Amino acid sequence: GIRAVEFDQPLAIPPLAESEASGGVRRFHLTAQEGSISWPGMPEPTPTWGLNGPFLGPTLRARRGENVEVTVRNAVPETTSMHWHGMHLPAAMDGGPHQSIEPGGTWRPSWEIDQPAATLWYHPHPHGATERHVYQGLAGLFLIDDERSDSARLPREYGVDDIPLIIQDRRVDEEGRLVLEDSGREPGMLGDTIMVNGTIGPVLEVAAQRLRLRLLNGSTARTYALALADERPMRMVASDGGLLDAPVELSRLRLAPGERAEVVVALTPGETVRLRSLPVDLGAIAVPALTGADDEFDVLELRAAASLAPAPEPSWGEDPLHVPLRAQDAVRTRTFALQGRTINGARMDMHRIDEVVHVGTVEIWEVTNTESVPHSFHVHDVQFRILDIDDQAPPAHLTGPQDTVYLEPRRRYRLVLRFDRYADPAMPYMYHCHMLLHEDGGMMGQFVVIEPGT
Ligand code: C2O
Ligand code: CU
Repeated sequence: GIRAVEFDQPLAIPPLAESEASGGVRRFHLTAQEGSISWPGMPEPTPTWGLNGPFLGPTLRARRGENVEVTVRNAVPETTSMHWHGMHLPAAMDGGPHQSIEPGGTWRPSWEIDQPAATLWYHPHPHGATERHVYQGLAGLFLIDDERSDSARLPREYGVDDIPLIIQDRRVDEEGRLVLEDSGREPGMLGDTIMVNGTIGPVLEVAAQRLRLRLLNGSTARTYALALADERPMRMVASDGGLLDAPVELSRLRLAPGERAEVVVALTPGETVRLRSLPVDLGAIAVPALTGADDEFDVLELRAAASLAPAPEPSWGEDPLHVPLRAQDAVRTRTFALQGRTINGARMDMHRIDEVVHVGTVEIWEVTNTESVPHSFHVHDVQFRILDIDDQAPPAHLTGPQDTVYLEPRRRYRLVLRFDRYADPAMPYMYHCHMLLHEDGGMMGQFVVIEPGT
């Protein structure tokens, strides 16, 4: 279960990363470093890792069409990497296991932001050690803005009514150390302490009628069912890869590791209400208790001021640059079966290319969770759409752009994906389960995007 805590700590808001723009390039700097945090109720400061600080990292923010460059310096004592999860970019800039950074080393990827406004994130992706590096504190958000998000009727003041929430479960022992153990549980270790942006027992003072919550499940194994305590309706406005076609009303939201969602919640003056996680329906799971599916706990306390600034109902226009992803445009279908620590019976091998895709084409990927343990499926470089789940149309909140999808046991998900712009026969992208123990255990494959006829 989850340790009960007092909700009396101001919610930390990750600072916006500084950047300089010159010569048409916006430049950011990230240093992965060791640090420590004194969490309330812990006897000793906890040794942690962070980016430009002791735990987690700053929020990077850039606009569609901008060129960005990030200098990533590795000051932790292990080889790591930095992956831009959800970003459409050349494979050599992706930050997967082929772009590792030695201790003391620096890596400087650059690319053009070429996708709609969205809440993306970054985290290490070293071969076999992603879970540990993320668990120690290496992760942060990467926000993209565009004209459509500028003109949307949505709360947009970062840290004021537009709130990033990186939700993670952790275990800290009596000596104040972060504990990550292979407990033999499926799908991995569950923490007994919930942190939001690294804050335990967080409180947010609210001054506006509506709040936009940018939710990231940055946990290694735990899936949440997020709801306000009274289960009042929330408006889901965006999925992993950006705005939905229209807001979707829901009272609870399932969020698996790696997934993001943006929801707008309405508050009444003077009220206090908690964001909670309710028992989560993971589908036909063999042993729900092992997955933490039965746990029920508070995540964040919202305290509304006696008078609140008015805010409109969420709404937004069409994306003028959107090219629909249609099944009838697909040039081929590939099938992927997730089982054990394998995809299609194979474990990750950095020297093997599993799939070869033609640049500029649309494909259907049929992905099946063949077992009764939870899995999720993440594809680098693209934002896909779910065509159907066991031949049924997906529910409205699963119709947006996604790069990660929770796979209920024994269900088949058909995804439609387009592989635009970047061909590189020599450098693969990854697809994998985003439950980090599975990912590190080899439930991952590699694809290259090539020019047809090469
Ligand atoms: Cu969030 Cu391959 O990663
Ligand atoms: Cu898995």
